[in-house]
Amino acid sequence: MSRRVALRAPAKLNLALAVLGKRPDGYHDLRSVLVTLDLHDDVLVAAHRRLEARTSVDVGPDDLTARAVRALAASCGREPHAFVRVRKRIPLAAGLGGGSSDAAAVLRGCAALWRCAADLVAVAAGIGSDVPFFARGATAALVSGRGERVSPLPAPPAPLDVVVVRPTLRLATADVFAEHAADEVGAERHVDAVAEAFARGVVTAELLRVHAANDLLAAAERRCAAIASWRAAAAARGIALALTGSGPTLFAIADDRADALRMARILTRAGLRARAHRACVA
Ligand code: C5P
Repeated sequence: MSRRVALRAPAKLNLALAVLGKRPDGYHDLRSVLVTLDLHDDVLVAAHRRLEARTSVDVGPDDLTARAVRALAASCGREPHAFVRVRKRIPLAAGLGGGSSDAAAVLRGCAALWRCAADLVAVAAGIGSDVPFFARGATAALVSGRGERVSPLPAPPAPLDVVVVRPTLRLATADVFAEHAADEVGAERHVDAVAEAFARGVVTAELLRVHAANDLLAAAERRCAAIASWRAAAAARGIALALTGSGPTLFAIADDRADALRMARILTRAGLRARAHRACVA
């Protein structure tokens, strides 16, 4: 049996995100289409005599990877003993799901090391709202509930070309949800249109641009004024930037790779940290 497992933990984009309402438990019911991004952390999980989790940057006291080891060990009825090492590339608290993806990679790694047949998506739901998507391992999915219901969608034949604007700022998810007003809704029909296009295999860049709505945008802009100024700077150059998750990372859907590189150049000249990426990649 292998005593160490190396995994890639991809980032995600929310192509569209609807907030359906606040729940009695304080969380919000969501509906969102998520896709993986070609930006990833490297995660190593190995057998060890105790729990030791190391990350290449300081992730603060609430390390989701240690929580993932403990949660899976509890569900398999064994000691939470594992060595975890994460080399971060995905920026923290950016709306790209890096910490959640690392946690899901740890679940997969520990399950392989321990030969444990637990339902990883169910265990993931107890760790964080974005973890089930990554634990499911789909490149595209319609996610609902608090994030625990994951319906994989067929990936388009080719990856999606996108431009990602990565600010150096951090924005706490909880702060953006706390800022969200009950009447800031309306993206549900956009989420459903995107999900239907994936399901029917008719995804186009134009369709994704039309439906790139996010009910958290106004709340994120109130928490982080820079988001509105970056979007205005891009709009003045003919580029519509959408918000992923609770932000502050923004993205634009490109027609193809050349279009993504062209937009990244324009945005970089405008002073934004923009890069061409591919989404919906395994
Ligand atoms: O689940 P996770 O720990 O990632 O969520 C961080 C915070 O974001 C929660 O404490 C909650 O305030 C908010 N949240 C929410 N509804 C969701 C997901 C997150 O209100 N569906």
